[in-house]
Amino acid sequence: MTVHFIGAGPGAPDLLTLRGRDLISACPVCLYAGSLVPEGVLAHCPPGARILNTAPMSLDAIIDEIANAHAEGKDVARLHSGDLSVWSAMGEQIRRLRGLDIPYDVTPGVPSFAAAAAVLETELTLPSVAQSVVLTRTTGRASPMPEGETLAAFGATGATLAIHLSIHALPRVVEELTPHYGADCPVAIVWRASWPDQRVLRGTLATITSLLGEGIERTALILVGSVLSAEGFAESRLYAHDYDRRFRPRGTAPRFPEGQ
Ligand SMILES: C[S@@+](CC[C@H](N)C(=O)[O-])C[C@H]1O[C@@H](n2cnc3c(N)ncnc32)[C@H](O)[C@@H]1O
Repeated sequence: MTVHFIGAGPGAPDLLTLRGRDLISACPVCLYAGSLVPEGVLAHCPPGARILNTAPMSLDAIIDEIANAHAEGKDVARLHSGDLSVWSAMGEQIRRLRGLDIPYDVTPGVPSFAAAAAVLETELTLPSVAQSVVLTRTTGRASPMPEGETLAAFGATGATLAIHLSIHALPRVVEELTPHYGADCPVAIVWRASWPDQRVLRGTLATITSLLGEGIERTALILVGSVLSAEGFAESRLYAHDYDRRFRPRGTAPRFPEGQ
């Protein structure tokens, strides 16, 4: 018996990995994290599977469900939205499973920041513009930010920011970032990326708050950084015609002669 933690992706059912799909269809028990996991993903559960929404459950109740499945020798598909490496609450579940000696494994999923970048058709790291992406959030009721992890601190680097769980705090985000990025810095908000009703707002730190209309709440990402509107960036050296690399040796004395 194994508990399979599976990243269910950002919303579109066909953004689930093949491994995730196959594991879901092989598990007689499926626990999924609320409304962010779409029905199209749950449709892969086998007929008769026990399918539970864990949104109203406590951690104790979730672990009890898993322990019952373990006692019956039934594999469990444990679904969380996006990828499991960020804001999935997988860590605390794994710690409990270790304590109970219940085996588990982890299958990654498409994270929402990547889905949002795809919607925007934007590379978040552009040569000479930004080479780092900070995945962050603002303080929430359940999770205060550790000291030092402030928007101002990240903003001081000029990196591209992908701010999660914070659409309700947009005015504060704008206020904290404007001194670092400038009022003209481009901002994009992607609501429910990859869902049929996805929406995109584009503006600047000066305009984005007034552009935010009704209905955009909760499942939205705030992306901030010059990459969102950069045109005059340098091309990467990787594909430059004179760049000497192992797969394309160049010059009279290439560093990587062919055949080596
Ligand atoms: C609990 S976190 C889950 C993050 C998830 N594990 C991931 O990999 O993206 C939920 C937050 O992720 C972002 N999010 C998740 N799915 C999204 C989507 N389809 N479109 C935009 N933002 C999304 C929102 O900021 C939302 O408040």
